Amino acid sequence: PPTIRQLLSPSHVVPPTPIEVNGWVKSIRRQKNVSFAVITDGSERKGLQTVFVHANESESGNLSLAKRLTNGACVRLSGQLCDSPGKGQVRELRVEAGDVLGECDPEEYPIQKQSLPVEYLRDKCHLRARTDHGAAMLRLRDRLAGQLHGFFKDQGFISTNTPILTSNDCEGAGETFRISSLSSPIPDPRLSEFFTQPSYLTVSSQLHLEALATSLSRVYTLSPCFRAEPSQTSRHLAEFWMLEAEWAFVDNVEGLCAFVEGSMKDILRSSFGPGADGGEDVEVLWKGGDEARRGALEEAGKEDKKWERMSYDEAIKELSKHNEQTSGRSFQFKPEWGKGLQSEHEKWLAEHLVKGPVFVTDYPASLKPFYMRSNSSSCSPHGPTVACFDLLVPHIGELAGGSLREERLTHLTAAIEKHGLKKEDYEWYLELRKFGGAPHGGFGLGFERLISWVGAIENVRECIAMPRWAGRMLL
Ligand code: 4AD
Ligand code: MG
Repeated sequence: PPTIRQLLSPSHVVPPTPIEVNGWVKSIRRQKNVSFAVITDGSERKGLQTVFVHANESESGNLSLAKRLTNGACVRLSGQLCDSPGKGQVRELRVEAGDVLGECDPEEYPIQKQSLPVEYLRDKCHLRARTDHGAAMLRLRDRLAGQLHGFFKDQGFISTNTPILTSNDCEGAGETFRISSLSSPIPDPRLSEFFTQPSYLTVSSQLHLEALATSLSRVYTLSPCFRAEPSQTSRHLAEFWMLEAEWAFVDNVEGLCAFVEGSMKDILRSSFGPGADGGEDVEVLWKGGDEARRGALEEAGKEDKKWERMSYDEAIKELSKHNEQTSGRSFQFKPEWGKGLQSEHEKWLAEHLVKGPVFVTDYPASLKPFYMRSNSSSCSPHGPTVACFDLLVPHIGELAGGSLREERLTHLTAAIEKHGLKKEDYEWYLELRKFGGAPHGGFGLGFERLISWVGAIENVRECIAMPRWAGRMLL
């Protein structure tokens, strides 16, 4: 049977015979001769209005059915789908029969029509998708994933699946969840040393993608990543999804930035402004949202508006200038060459200096992982840098990061040593360079941060169905 979205679509031909609708009661209004209930099945934002006429004795079945409906109850209703004479909906269901499949005690049901505190809903994340906001976020998530898959397909990329269990810590940031060790609490001795080497949940698919890009040329994946990130911020989860792409024969950072810009503009155009076919859920999520902020996203999506680029050197110069002009009161952390950009710096660059998305390129090598391609010494007078970028956007900060990868065997071997890593652990990775090494590069983009940006959702904990962060793993 069609979903409610399909039933309400103008292209759906209303059948002359009764139809069946399944869903949950979203609201109910009882009057003397007639009752109205809105039924949702989560497929679209508004739900289907259903009408129970009980004006006379012969319709007492409708009355007793309507009396059994409560918010949240699961129902199956059948009747005639017809054009609605009322305002607010195009079609409605004239109920002829039905049943309550699952009752719901309104005294106990935690989901209310009025908006509930964010923290309360996090505790009830198994029911959070029953709220308008929770359901709209999940539909947005689905649509953005589909949009990205379409974009990558058009660009000739091959979708791949990389391992979740891995023996590498790609980023070298010490945020890996270790899954097997001698001290494993698993009582079965065979399992406690299941793998013969330290094993982790992946923090990034990048290294595996590189292996595939140096044979399939263009690959990408949308995969879960895990980080034991102790800080409690609105941008970090312990389990999040990353869109990662890797492709061969790109040999300059601008090539990477232009690709990321193209993919993000495609997302923005599908969500904002004229011709946006996915604006419906954005509408729900932005309810009461700021017009200017929305206009800026529409603007950023325009083909002819090239996003800003600036080097890390320039970024530090601008930040320092601003810091001096405000006598050091602007930032908690003083911007200095060689130090990482703090979230406050990233937001200032995107929100105040550029007033839009900005690619910051060529960071100091000392701030970045071993695999980034080193720049020539003339790139910065301050010290060694690498051919990389971070994409910073207003309200979020870092949305994506990427780089050219070091394809020169001697440089890479030296970088592994310099980062204090064991060469033996990277033999396979070095072989990618030894055997037909190719210039290549790629990037990773936090999928929840993208949803947060497009949906104006304050915290990434509301951008995934069942969030996990330090100290919290319900269900
Ligand atoms: O900057 P990151 O750590 O880069 C990498 O992992 C590279 N190996 C990616 C690549 O080049 N293939 O992470 C990439 C993006 C960040 O820009 C951020 O959007 C997101 O992943 N991210 C997180 N999102 C939610 N929670 C976390 N704990 C995140 N850590 C990173
Ligand atoms: Mg990064």
